[in-house]
Amino acid sequence: MAIEKVIAKRNHRVVVSRHGGPEVLQMVAEDLPEPRPGEVRVQVLAAGISAYDLMHRSSGWLPGTPKPPFTLGEDIVGVVDMLGEGVSALALGQMVAGATFCLGLGGGYAEFICLPACELVAVPAGVDPAEAVCVVVNYLTAHMAMHRTAQVQRGERVLVHGAAGGVGSALLELGKLAGLEMFGTASGYNHECVSALGAAPIDYRTEDFVKRIHQLTGEGVDVVFDPIGGFRQLRRSHRALRRNGRLVWFGVAAAKESGLRVILLTLLMVILLKLFPGGRRLLLTLDLAKDNAWYRKTLAELLDLLAAGKINPIVAARIPLAEAAHAHELLERGGYAGKVVLDVE
Ligand SMILES: NC(=O)c1ccc[n+]([C@@H]2O[C@H](COP(=O)([O-])OP(=O)(O)OC[C@H]3O[C@@H](n4cnc5c(N)ncnc54)[C@H](OP(=O)(O)O)[C@@H]3O)[C@@H](O)[C@H]2O)c1
Repeated sequence: MAIEKVIAKRNHRVVVSRHGGPEVLQMVAEDLPEPRPGEVRVQVLAAGISAYDLMHRSSGWLPGTPKPPFTLGEDIVGVVDMLGEGVSALALGQMVAGATFCLGLGGGYAEFICLPACELVAVPAGVDPAEAVCVVVNYLTAHMAMHRTAQVQRGERVLVHGAAGGVGSALLELGKLAGLEMFGTASGYNHECVSALGAAPIDYRTEDFVKRIHQLTGEGVDVVFDPIGGFRQLRRSHRALRRNGRLVWFGVAAAKESGLRVILLTLLMVILLKLFPGGRRLLLTLDLAKDNAWYRKTLAELLDLLAAGKINPIVAARIPLAEAAHAHELLERGGYAGKVVLDVE
């Protein structure tokens, strides 16, 4: 008689077991989550890792960080595996992409995740899940900063900081499509990448970018995109603008080298530049999750651009889910271009 062995599927999920270094990331096994009405269960193929993940892992100080154990991961691509009650817009087996902000902090570092169907967008056939996951938060952030916040016009001159990073490289790709003249700050090892993305590279480690921008443009640029933050950095970004230029601030990548206190100093400079604009404007980006209609429409457009080969996100590394700690070590070390992705397959 044949012996039938039924092995129940389990969900493997990486949790931040306590605040600390990459070693606090641990894998747990649990029953599969069940979708609630309006949700679908997604079998994850690729999950994004972001700079914010490192901050939430290392400290409970940031607003919105839950008490451990919790799971990070703000964007995923996967296959619909189970439909919750009332879901008709998505089908079983369909590849989808989405952000996980609706769950609070995240949840993407997992084999399975339940998400509201309205947060997910169909991925066109033939698209690489790792490339698609780069598009979700990074390209949405770049699109928001460029088109909703700065409202760039063809031919404008822009400076993108962190130009080879996940969001920076997305800004350059979208900036090229928008017909902008671009400059980008990056370490020397990323200059080839920045040039290939269509921008003139500036080494922020060895050059004074304000001086360089004024040498290259005369009056300064129309827009600076600053995901770096920091008191001095924001003031200098402001100085790189021409009169009536716009400074779009949307991040604190400087926290990696300068620690979380840079966030308070950045906010102080934001207030000062709002109070004393000096003929220039400081603009802040909106929350990506606030406007679901914009989110869905823009993400679908970006995924179509990806399928058509009009954007080519840089996957810095594909690291198995079980090695999430190595992925965090890579982010902490730096020295790469693009976005680090967890390969969950
Ligand atoms: N508001 C939002 O919705 C939103 C969404 C996503 C991200 N963000 C923010 O954007 C930041 C960047 O995200 P990311 O995913 O692009 O991070 P990332 O891939 O780690 O890239 C950060 C880049 O910053 C560069 N960098 C570090 N210090 C710099 C400095 N002083 N001047 C110029 N470049 C510097 C590094 O370049 P080199 O390696 O070339 O030195 C690196 O490429 C995050 O820290 C986060 O705060 C905001």
